[in-house]
Amino acid sequence: MSMKIPFLKNKQSKELFHYPEDNIPEHISIIMDGNGRWAHKRGMPRVAGHKEGVSAVVKIVKAAVKCKVKVLTLYTFSTENWKRPKPEIDFILRLPKEFLHIYLPDLIANNVRIEVIGDRANLPAHTWEALQYAIERTRHNDGLQLNFALNYGSRSEMLSAMKEMFADVNDAKLSLADVDEKRFSEYLYTAGMTDPDLLIRTGGEKRLSNFLLWQLAYTEFWFTDVLWPDFSEKEFLRALEEYRKRKRRYGGI
Ligand code: FPP
Repeated sequence: MSMKIPFLKNKQSKELFHYPEDNIPEHISIIMDGNGRWAHKRGMPRVAGHKEGVSAVVKIVKAAVKCKVKVLTLYTFSTENWKRPKPEIDFILRLPKEFLHIYLPDLIANNVRIEVIGDRANLPAHTWEALQYAIERTRHNDGLQLNFALNYGSRSEMLSAMKEMFADVNDAKLSLADVDEKRFSEYLYTAGMTDPDLLIRTGGEKRLSNFLLWQLAYTEFWFTDVLWPDFSEKEFLRALEEYRKRKRRYGGI
């Protein structure tokens, strides 16, 4: 394995894994659920689960790079998460900066491109500045595209897309007759990206929680009871193995 990835040097990389080479999902999206329960089970504060969740992010980014996944979208903070206690919100929104402070050099060395989907307007300045710096520094990388969904909510994404599109119709920049699915997609945060092929949700719940509702129309879903901080490379490869067995028909036969 490439020596370019210092974050490969953990216990797991010594295990012998089978990395699939064909029929890899091009775009994987993940609802990283279960951090709070992971911490609660250990008598720790919820934020300890989020902190451990960052270690799982590192493992899964590494695995995605190794498997040559093109896009990985991680649901990091939803528009609904503002309902949480302020100290927990502040903690989660500090994580991108802390993660990038440690791992940006590795991500750059491994040709990873950082992107953000979501409404940046309400994010604290320190969160956005750290991400903006990473986006800028990795702009020309053409390996894994790592999307952080931050202050992301699918319904609000679609509403603002619709408003922008109507404004363009109003200003005669767009004709209503030209509005189709492809054109509408260009107004979403995910403009230019392929739709996810696989959605993984950890933590046992089986719902979408306002995540990529438009983009997941034909996505394969894979659910696991494993709590996000315990989600490992082995578990990730299990999801890929299951995906390889699925027959995608897109409504055909
Ligand atoms: C959901 O679990 C998790 C979140 C709202 C936060 C997700 C954030 C991370 C995994 C860390 C992000 C990492 C980086 C690098 C920015 P929950 O708290 O709802 O868990 P519960 O259902 O057990 O309460």
